Amino acid sequence: MPLINENFLKLKTGYLFPEIARRVKAFTESNPDAAKRLIRCGIGDVTEPLPEAVRYAMHEAVDEMGVRDSFHGYGPEQGYEFLRKAIATNDFQSRGINIEADEIFISDGSKCDTGNILDIFGKGNKIAITDPVYPVYVDTNVMAGNTRDADEKTGAFGGLVYMKCSPRNGFVPPVPKKKVDLVYLCYPNNPTGAVATREQLTVWVNYAREHGSVLLFDAAYEAYIQDPAIPHSIFEIEGARDCAIEFRSFSKNGGFTGVRCAFVVIPKTLMGTTKAGAKQSLHALWSRRHSTKFNGASYIVQRGAEALYTDEGKSQVRALIEHYMGNATLLVKACKKAKLKVYGGANAPYVWVRCPEGVTSWQMFDKMLNEANVVITPGAGFGSAGEGWFRISAFNSRANVEEVCRRIAEIK
Ligand code: MLT
Repeated sequence: MPLINENFLKLKTGYLFPEIARRVKAFTESNPDAAKRLIRCGIGDVTEPLPEAVRYAMHEAVDEMGVRDSFHGYGPEQGYEFLRKAIATNDFQSRGINIEADEIFISDGSKCDTGNILDIFGKGNKIAITDPVYPVYVDTNVMAGNTRDADEKTGAFGGLVYMKCSPRNGFVPPVPKKKVDLVYLCYPNNPTGAVATREQLTVWVNYAREHGSVLLFDAAYEAYIQDPAIPHSIFEIEGARDCAIEFRSFSKNGGFTGVRCAFVVIPKTLMGTTKAGAKQSLHALWSRRHSTKFNGASYIVQRGAEALYTDEGKSQVRALIEHYMGNATLLVKACKKAKLKVYGGANAPYVWVRCPEGVTSWQMFDKMLNEANVVITPGAGFGSAGEGWFRISAFNSRANVEEVCRRIAEIK
């Protein structure tokens, strides 16, 4: 028998969202009536139809594929030039950010990108994550063997540096006292819905440059930023080209969770080092990795993503964001009215809520499921600092969110 990767055995439970789905399935099977009125505000999965501009572009691309002269087989592993250019121009250069099309790598999702990026980093790096955190960052490090076992009580994995986030620091951690090599930051934040200011991000960039660290900056939710003072990209901060990788996704802005398209930005100026101290380009390593392990996102999908940057596409994305942010505003209001302490929901599609005194986050999950027939995400699933909190996703229809608000008011 082949030996297995025993790092997987360090993971105590299933991945958070399948685990929630499993519990919800068990509940709905034994409560068929409640199942009929169930509303899912757990996983941050979009609900509204794909923008029309995207659908037209994808239809056209399908037709092209039906003609020999315009048929596309394997595409460039790093992505088609038309999409990389549209991204560079619209997401970066139009904001005065110096990012070129060939520093952008198209993929089929940010979950894969944030996990796969570990391929290009060696063993023995000191890795910092926020707590609470998007669980992919932790689990993929466990799988890659970058951690020791989990602590029985807290669930924290040995070897990782956990940076506690709470209302006290606005859910943006201070830089560590000691040097770390890799730091995962996600702003607007999943799960807390917090944002990081230009000043806070500048402190992080300065820290990273001083210590030779790399910031792995997940900006999947940047389209939800309402406050014009908040940076949309880490590359808005001076010096970030020398110390940051950015992850972006079309899932939450263009409604692509089921279509799959995302991208990673790695500046050519960004370096890692060999054990012997020789500098190596991380851009070159990722490009090499992409060419070997990935054959590119589908042509049809990339044409769809390109359409998000047309005038129609942009206005349709704006409408989607307005819709989900309208939901977030309603949820925040309903929680406040129910005398719950609530954060987020102002520049992000997640509302982060304190559980009532003495109620754990999984107890709150059960309570919401049993009493309100609403699925939320228990904060503990995002790390030990998430205990005592729960997350409500604003990704839903308006009617469902209004109903959730009514049910929150009835929770005892
Ligand atoms: C979430 O609910 O945290 C997200 O939908 C997960 C994801 O984007 O993979």
